Amino acid sequence: MTRRRVAILISGRGSNMVSLIEAARAPDFPAEIALVLSNRPDAAGLDRAREARIATCVVDHKAHPTREDFEQAMDAALATHHIAFICLAGFMRVLTDWFVARWAGRMVNIHPSLLPLFRGTQTHRRALEEGVLVHGCTVHFVVPELDAGPIIAQAAVPVVPGDTEESLAARVIVQEHVLYPHALRMICDGTARLENGRVEFARPWDASGTLHSPR
Ligand code: GRF
Repeated sequence: MTRRRVAILISGRGSNMVSLIEAARAPDFPAEIALVLSNRPDAAGLDRAREARIATCVVDHKAHPTREDFEQAMDAALATHHIAFICLAGFMRVLTDWFVARWAGRMVNIHPSLLPLFRGTQTHRRALEEGVLVHGCTVHFVVPELDAGPIIAQAAVPVVPGDTEESLAARVIVQEHVLYPHALRMICDGTARLENGRVEFARPWDASGTLHSPR
């Protein structure tokens, strides 16, 4: 089995990064985390990556005059580390069409909502404001339009009375940590494939599971 060399791009605490690193320790995991790249030198996730003995690199967006310049520097770092696939995990820079096209079909993101609901930021606040009773998270391929790419996997959680942004975020992040490794595994072992702008799955579905909220 050739394991795909994956870079995780972060800007902050990196809890999803840790879940991917831990999952990739399994001998049968079809990807290896070969690099953690942060655009912020002070991202807490960098220390966690170093503790896990993963190569790290900082490409500080503030040190580059333009977005294109910043992305060229990231691209060069990814090439140096022979990276074949990118996982965005709390990476807080909007990417240009150039970078997205360059990594088309080879870059995924995790978003804390059931897309296409609540693209962008403040997803938990907006879910509470709208009164939805089911919320969750999505792993999707990255396309130029923000949070609009083909969906690879989703996990749903109930919204319960008394929920705050924090309590809802805490419930969703637990599922993010399960969902992201699951999605990466499916992509890298060929179970999930991007075909004509949609994700096709090479295995049968279990259609029996439901989430009723309230039950
Ligand atoms: C997660 O909620 C993720 O869905 C979003 O940013 C957050 C990153 O958290 N894209 P962490 O840095 O992985 O802990």
